[in-house]
Amino acid sequence: MREFPLTLSRFIIQAQSEHPGASGEFSSLLTQIGLVGKLIAQDLRRAGLINILGTTGDTNVQGEIVKKLDAIANDDFVKVFQHSDYVCALASEEMEKPILLPDNWSQGKYMLLFDPLDGSSNTDNNMPLGAIFSVLKHSQSDCSPTDGELMRRGTEQVAAGYLLYGSSTMLVYTVGQGVYGFTLEPGIGEYLLSHEQIRIPDKGKVYSVNEGNYHKWSPGTKKYVDSLKVADKPSGRPYSSRYTGCLVADVHRLLLGGGIYLYPGEADKPDGKLRLLYEANPMAFVVEQAGGKASTGTSRIMDVEPKKLHQRVPLIIGSRLDVEQAEAYIQGRA
Ligand code: AHG
Ligand code: MN
Ligand code: MN
Repeated sequence: MREFPLTLSRFIIQAQSEHPGASGEFSSLLTQIGLVGKLIAQDLRRAGLINILGTTGDTNVQGEIVKKLDAIANDDFVKVFQHSDYVCALASEEMEKPILLPDNWSQGKYMLLFDPLDGSSNTDNNMPLGAIFSVLKHSQSDCSPTDGELMRRGTEQVAAGYLLYGSSTMLVYTVGQGVYGFTLEPGIGEYLLSHEQIRIPDKGKVYSVNEGNYHKWSPGTKKYVDSLKVADKPSGRPYSSRYTGCLVADVHRLLLGGGIYLYPGEADKPDGKLRLLYEANPMAFVVEQAGGKASTGTSRIMDVEPKKLHQRVPLIIGSRLDVEQAEAYIQGRA
């Protein structure tokens, strides 16, 4: 008889039984993330048919134009989690302030930070999209978490991961014990374990960066990216260039095949573009758990002390040796 892959729900129950004392709330939280993924994937599959492409006409707190799908995805996260009991606060790229959930304070131990739709410039042309989430634990029960409590270093995350809406829908996550990937089987509406204990190769052959910004990079960043294009067989160069405009999709490729993604600081934007708390930190947790690295160019992403909810940070992430080499160039050591 053909063996049936583990469903996300069974995998979670199994993992929970290996941790006696686990309340089950955390497991339910992951199941709810899966539900959000199904809701958004369903909309994305029909997006060109149901008038949900294009923009809302609004600008978000980041000063970016809001796509209809950004707003829909954000609403889906909020709708699913505000009545979920497990979560006492929600913070999102699309919301200036966190939503505190007083009805959940007595039992909701977790705080969820998310990018509801990542790569939203891809919405109108059927290219890959994603969502990114970071889970923190509220330090006290029975009271409201303060806004400040949502601003923790990446090392304090208890779980993190992403949804990828590509040719298939995937949920990839870590709770600090390796990285697991589940693929949505649309026929039965279940996520099935497809990628067990993902390990990123120590070195890759792919680089992913928006090279249109080259003129704004530091000399070290320019020199590093230039070096990747020099033909040198023993060191595996030149690297191939791949860039989708969706961090989740680009990092997912690296996670499986190795290589490096960069969104460096620029002359007019020294902190780059990506947000620390709900983009860089969760992706860093996943990649580190798979054996890779994530750096600002000068320090570990997960050690950065957050000062603002929507703080940006330069991000260099991927295979361990590739990130170390990029750091050497950026710091003027190569
Ligand atoms: P978001 O859609 O959540 O704002 O994120 C977009 C991010 C990221 O996904 C991607 O790698 C990067 O921005 C692309 O930016 P550029 O268009 O500047 O390359
Ligand atoms: Mn994003
Ligand atoms: Mn987004």
